[in-house]
Amino acid sequence: MKTIFTKLVGSYILIVVISLVVIGVSLSFMFNNYLFEQKERELIIKGQDMAQVVKPFLVEKEDPHDFVNMANRLDLNLGTEVWVVDKKGAVIATAANHEYCEGNYLEASELKKMQSGSISVYKGKSQYFQEPVIRVIIPIIQEEKVIGAIVLYSPIQGINKALASLSQLVLTAGIISLAIAFLIGIILSRRLSRPILTITEASTLIAKGQKQVTVPTDTSIEEINQLGKTFNDMSSKVEANEERMKEFVANVSHELRSPLTSIKGFIEALIDNKGKTPEAQQRFLTIINDETDRLSQLVNDLLILSRSEEEIFLKPEEIELKKFIEDVLTSFQPRAEENSITMEVISEETSIFLKIDLNSLKQIIVNLVDNALKYSTQGGNVSISLKESAEMISISISDSGLGIPERDLPHIWDRFYRVDKDRSRETGGTGLGLAIVKQLTEKNGGQVEVESVLGKGSVFSVRF
Ligand SMILES: Nc1ncnc2c1ncn2[C@@H]1O[C@H](COP(=O)(O)OP(=O)(O)OP(=O)(O)O)[C@@H](O)[C@H]1O
Ligand SMILES: [Mg+2]
Repeated sequence: MKTIFTKLVGSYILIVVISLVVIGVSLSFMFNNYLFEQKERELIIKGQDMAQVVKPFLVEKEDPHDFVNMANRLDLNLGTEVWVVDKKGAVIATAANHEYCEGNYLEASELKKMQSGSISVYKGKSQYFQEPVIRVIIPIIQEEKVIGAIVLYSPIQGINKALASLSQLVLTAGIISLAIAFLIGIILSRRLSRPILTITEASTLIAKGQKQVTVPTDTSIEEINQLGKTFNDMSSKVEANEERMKEFVANVSHELRSPLTSIKGFIEALIDNKGKTPEAQQRFLTIINDETDRLSQLVNDLLILSRSEEEIFLKPEEIELKKFIEDVLTSFQPRAEENSITMEVISEETSIFLKIDLNSLKQIIVNLVDNALKYSTQGGNVSISLKESAEMISISISDSGLGIPERDLPHIWDRFYRVDKDRSRETGGTGLGLAIVKQLTEKNGGQVEVESVLGKGSVFSVRF
């Protein structure tokens, strides 16, 4: 498995090696060219001088050997060979150590070039020298006729040495750069991996259940800081979730316990059955029945809330909104009349059609109307207004009831949240209704909203 260190150092080494190869190759190329050009220029000048000296020998048909030997001796330290060729390209004079070449001919292409009077230059390998050579042929011209030529032959001295020292230089630079790359790799990878290790350790702590685990977010690397911030965020959310979970379980048990205690109490009284009139028995049974209803309602609500996204099966159908809501309100009518509360549905349009999961919509309306009635005073008014615009359809349920204090407004959608616990206990609420409304509305792609003035009333809206 690769660590940050091996990755970093690996890429550094690759970069160093590639750059050195590129630099080395281009440097040696440039060096080569430079040395060749230098030598070429030098040889041409020298050759032209010699051509002037040799010319009389050729014109007079004298032996140029002495001159060639002398020239060679003078040039021995430079390693230049001097040959004289006649107009047909035959080698007529060389230094003593090259006499075996005499009688040889220039190659056809070189001869052609020579006879045309132009200088020819050959660069490349030679069988006589270890190093690359350069050969220059300078024609000797007498009265516009080529009467022979000087051939200068020279190894590019020092080129191998120069190249060797160049490669040594590149190699040394390479070793130094690799060492530096290695060092930087160690430092950088430490810097990178240390905070990652810290986060890993912190995650392990969270997994073990430790609280208030945070990691530093002030390292020198922006991305790591970002990761740290996200981590701390997550850490606090996990903690908050755990708290909420505990609270939820406590709430559920509490809510379950009170109806159960009451049911058990009345059943025990009935079992006892001492001096109870039939009317009292009847009353006890009614209470037991009501408490059982409350229990099953609570269990139903919990079931709805506990269903996850995939588990809620939505079956959208198109309905006429006003008719649908009026139907739902019928079941609330007796309760409203009992408290002299009037209920009305107001719609701006004659008919508004909405495609939605009917079960969800019913639950939403039932919970909101239930609250509106529950938290209204005698003789109040509950009105449901329907609006349709290009972007959305909204259903607003307003009441002239108790209203909700501003500081409670952000929380009323939370599970088990009740503004006034005593007030709700009396009215039998558990604080799940609005959580259900919010969940179902959002599952159906809508949004919830509330406006409320304490003592005046509230408006709960859902928009789809
Ligand atoms: N129309 C309203 N007017 C005033 N207060 C309201 C209204 N609707 C909700 N509330 C407040 O918000 C709290 C949360 O409402 P929610 O419907 O979630 O719970 P509940 O009515 O107490 O219980 P449940 O609906 O589960 O029987 C209520 O306890 C109540 O204090
Ligand atoms: Mg409610």
